[in-house]
Amino acid sequence: MATAAARAAVVVVTVVTMVVSVLPGAEGHLQMGAYNKTCPQAEEIVLKEMSAILGKTPDLAGPVLRLFSVDCFVGGCEGSILLDSTPNNTAEKDSPLNKGVRGYEVVDAIKAKLDEACPGVVSCADTLALAARDSIRLSKGPFIPLLTGREDGNRSVAADVAANTPAPGANITDLIAQFAKLNLTAKDLAVLSGAHTIGKARCSTISPRLYGGQNGSSSSDPTLDGNYTTTLRGQCKPGDESKMVDLDPTTPTTFDGDYYKLVAGNRGLLSTDAALLLDPATKAYVSSQANNATSDDGFFADFAVSFLAMSKIGALTHHKGEIRNVCSKVNPPSPPHNSNNAAARTYLNGGLLLLTLAAPLLLGFLFVGL
Ligand code: HEM
Repeated sequence: MATAAARAAVVVVTVVTMVVSVLPGAEGHLQMGAYNKTCPQAEEIVLKEMSAILGKTPDLAGPVLRLFSVDCFVGGCEGSILLDSTPNNTAEKDSPLNKGVRGYEVVDAIKAKLDEACPGVVSCADTLALAARDSIRLSKGPFIPLLTGREDGNRSVAADVAANTPAPGANITDLIAQFAKLNLTAKDLAVLSGAHTIGKARCSTISPRLYGGQNGSSSSDPTLDGNYTTTLRGQCKPGDESKMVDLDPTTPTTFDGDYYKLVAGNRGLLSTDAALLLDPATKAYVSSQANNATSDDGFFADFAVSFLAMSKIGALTHHKGEIRNVCSKVNPPSPPHNSNNAAARTYLNGGLLLLTLAAPLLLGFLFVGL
């Protein structure tokens, strides 16, 4: 009985949230089904392509999900992470902090399919957002109804990354502060970190925890479980750079709540995962999921809410951005007018000029005639 009432309450809250989010004035004017009229099959195409890609390479779900978060954290979810550097500008993707970010080719492949069906309609920012949403669903995580209508921004500056991205060794105070700048709470931090249930990290990222160097120390991180440290040392030798290890070694391609058991047991791979135990609010969330949860339902519902909040950050809509042709390049400036229009305008202007000059003459004749 109580369960039925609780479910009904969840449904009501969900519906209200969805309605509020499509009202004018809701964040950035994103809306449910922004492509319903212009490209009704858009979301279906993304799901089909992601299914085919992950069917061949399940490991790509993590990179795509991370790519989206990295995009949203710097300048908002407007596809700026996808832009290439140019001779005059080093782009976000070439910031040292984004060296391990991968999955760009997945977005390009899906955008190509979308453009085949509906040329120039779906933005790169939405392609990435929908692909990330589907990487969760296809890894057995929750389905998250996503607002769309994001347009692509054209600012992508490497120097913006450090100021807006939590550093790999950031402490819990810095992490919470970084999230607060984006209107995300400490709970969002604990919940979204749960994305580290899939995907990998490079040995270079975790070697300070294994061999010292973290915060100036010369030994391994005492907050990392000793047996796990030994296992990881077997996988990552000193000097291994780009070799990768699973964030969640038991179920590396399944989106589940196991992450919290790992963190609670001092086996969170990243120092920022371990840091969740050092703040009362984030620790309480980790403990509740690790010790009290009887299923992943609570985590999934929380993740959907926090993911939606993240997906709205800095979204550009209503012609504040563009629909990029190629996700790695801003569109070339369009010529002011095409030649036919220009000719028509010259003709029209000439006609108006003639009429203006002839008007006094015509009026003169009229008076003389009268
Ligand atoms: C507290 C904020 C966060 C920090 C400090 C952080 C940090 C990291 C780091 C250092 C890596 C490993 C990168 C490497 O070694 O190359 C990583 C991987 C990953 N992160 Fe996060 N992350 C954060 C938040 C998020 C969020 C919000 C999401 C998604 C909702 C996410 C999803 C992922 C995924 C899926 C991977 C694996 C990527 C792959 O397989 O290539 N992270 N993260």
